[in-house]
Amino acid sequence: MLKHEKIVIIGEHPKFLEALRLAKRAAETGVKTILLTGETGTGKEVFARYIHEHSTRAKGPFIPVDCTTIPENLLESELFGFVKGAFTGAIKSRKGLVGLADGGTLLIDEIGNMPINVQNKLLRFLETRRYRAIGAEEEKEVDVQVIAATNVDLTKLIKKGAFRKDLYYRLSTINIILPPLRERGNDVILLAEYFLKRFLREYNVKKKRFTPDAYQKLLSYTWPGNVRELRNVVESAVLMSNGELIKASDIHFKSSYSRKTLNVIPSPQKNKIVLQFDVSEFNMENIERTVIIEALKYTGWNKRKAAELLGVSRMNLIRKIKKYGIE
Ligand SMILES: Nc1ncnc2c1ncn2[C@@H]1O[C@H](COP(=O)(O)OP(=O)(O)OP(=O)(O)O)[C@@H](O)[C@H]1O
Ligand SMILES: [Mg+2]
Repeated sequence: MLKHEKIVIIGEHPKFLEALRLAKRAAETGVKTILLTGETGTGKEVFARYIHEHSTRAKGPFIPVDCTTIPENLLESELFGFVKGAFTGAIKSRKGLVGLADGGTLLIDEIGNMPINVQNKLLRFLETRRYRAIGAEEEKEVDVQVIAATNVDLTKLIKKGAFRKDLYYRLSTINIILPPLRERGNDVILLAEYFLKRFLREYNVKKKRFTPDAYQKLLSYTWPGNVRELRNVVESAVLMSNGELIKASDIHFKSSYSRKTLNVIPSPQKNKIVLQFDVSEFNMENIERTVIIEALKYTGWNKRKAAELLGVSRMNLIRKIKKYGIE
């Protein structure tokens, strides 16, 4: 999203609205540290901008920094800056992003990738709101709202020793969790319609709409890439479809598995199931998903018994239940 672009936030699912409510509260209260957690493409950057723009700092700078795109050894100087002569090559001093964000918001994206030594320095900054540029004698004080974002579970990183517990506690006082798209029900349709309108305008296409089958296909998918993936799928459907209708066959997913459950024909014998499906649904993952659901139903949703029946470990089954979004 470009900086000057107006933020549009689409979604009505209760879990999503709760996240939005927290974001609004956080903006209004002016809290200085916020943690945004959510899978890739769930809208963390959109939320960070929303918070910034609804806060008293809206007129100040909004500076995003992504810990995965900056080499580890440069992150500290990128964030906190350095003075002339601080190290070989420091021919003139440079203000870090923390300094540049003074009066505004700093979004630290993928904070799970921040090296421990920089975590130390960040924690100190969050506690004192003061920092020292590399090689500097004096500390500087700035007024910056820090929003950290992550798509990994930081508590797992803490267990591995890759993330400081105290920094996590500091960051997570206000933790806004963005739900994955597959848990947002009809929001898929709201977002698809919004992106459709947007791309029709952008590509100067007059009229197009989704067929009921196309909606069904969008709803039956698990969206591992979340809203970003949906946006891309709609964009390509707008460009690739003929005529006014966007059909199910105009919708192409990047990942191979869909949330399709195959047709199970009721059988009079309790220990028999009959599956029936189109050749077009001939896909290992569809089959696996269906079989897992049937095994769970057969065992009264007892995961241990279902795993036994399927000949896999319980952990393995749980992984797959998660993967296929079986609830
Ligand atoms: N609720 C929403 N309404 C409208 N557009 C959205 C919404 N959520 C996300 N988007 C759009 O989806 C795309 C991905 O969002 P964003 O970059 O904020 O995700 P992210 O969580 O930061 O992803 P990543 O973890 O990959 O950095 C953007 O184009 C954004 O504009
Ligand atoms: Mg992001």
